[in-house]
Amino acid sequence: MEKIKISKTDLEVSRIILGCMQLGKTWNAEPISDDTIKNAINVIKTALDEGINFFDHADIYARGKSEEVFSHIWKEISGLRNKIILQSKCGIRFPNDPEDGSPGRYDFSYEHITKSVEGILRRLKTDFLDILLLHRPDPLVEPEEVAKAFDELHAAGKVRYFGLSNHTAPQIEYLKKFIAQPIIVNQLELSILHSDLIEEGVTFNQKHPSRGIRNIGTIEYCRLNDITIQSWAPLAKGKLFAENLTDEKLKIARDVVIASAEKYNVSKEAIMIAWVLRHPAKIQPVIGTTKAERVKACCQANKVQLSREDWYKLYIAGRGEALP
Ligand SMILES: NC(=O)c1ccc[n+]([C@@H]2O[C@H](COP(=O)([O-])OP(=O)(O)OC[C@H]3O[C@@H](n4cnc5c(N)ncnc54)[C@H](OP(=O)(O)O)[C@@H]3O)[C@@H](O)[C@H]2O)c1
Repeated sequence: MEKIKISKTDLEVSRIILGCMQLGKTWNAEPISDDTIKNAINVIKTALDEGINFFDHADIYARGKSEEVFSHIWKEISGLRNKIILQSKCGIRFPNDPEDGSPGRYDFSYEHITKSVEGILRRLKTDFLDILLLHRPDPLVEPEEVAKAFDELHAAGKVRYFGLSNHTAPQIEYLKKFIAQPIIVNQLELSILHSDLIEEGVTFNQKHPSRGIRNIGTIEYCRLNDITIQSWAPLAKGKLFAENLTDEKLKIARDVVIASAEKYNVSKEAIMIAWVLRHPAKIQPVIGTTKAERVKACCQANKVQLSREDWYKLYIAGRGEALP
């Protein structure tokens, strides 16, 4: 597995990250079953065997159960904590928290960030996070509060590095003005079916853009500022490989992925991941599978260097129409 050093840190990380969102299985109050623990351990061990040393969490995943389930790995492999990179996120709150009628919302207040990290560390059974991300931009953010929370968490040794998720370039630039620690990561959705980040640059200045242009230059901004981009949902949430696919455009995209898989002699999942890896920004795919076999299938992407032509074929198939 290829490793990269994250800029402005001492972190040596695998290009592929295991996304742990579904490891806790259910998003309700149901307790964690032995099968769920067994499966999670198997998935994590397989990822480690494949050379993955980077694990992505969030406090909300399976309502905290994904972090809790993950902590069972410490009993399985002694001395593992200092060999892996643990990242988690906070800033999203569920409806009815703290009281009935409270809406689902974002919360970057000092109190919420610091309290969330306590919960994350408790569930993961660790003393520190390598990276904390703020999950989704909070329109009511007071950057001084974020700065205070980050300063305290950093000084207490509870969080080593900080990043953001789903943030635009101006949002990052604004927060950076207040935050003492470097912003090292921005986690954004990217796959052949959700290529808006790439579209931004390609459809710019078109008279009739096929897709809305939103935040021009997010990739370039991150590259200029040495902010590593992580792509969430790089497998497009399995949408292309659903049984009974009826949408004609999706069927074409699926067939292009399958043809590429045959050409490069790897799995179809590996092609989806290789498409992200081929981008020169050294984007890190966060794979969200709950199956050990699929972890292995994704990691075959390490063997693939897509040609320029094949990368474009997949991009065009995913966007569903020819380029301008
Ligand atoms: N920052 C954010 O806002 C954000 C949002 C969402 C997710 N994330 C992170 O990104 C990670 C990945 O996201 P994700 O899980 O939504 O998307 P993903 O990695 O694109 O897709 C994973 C899902 O697709 C299914 N899948 C993949 N290939 C398949 C195939 N060939 N056939 C059938 N099903 C297939 C998987 O099922 P199996 O389990 O059966 O393999 C799993 O349910 C998460 O774990 C999380 O860490 C971050």
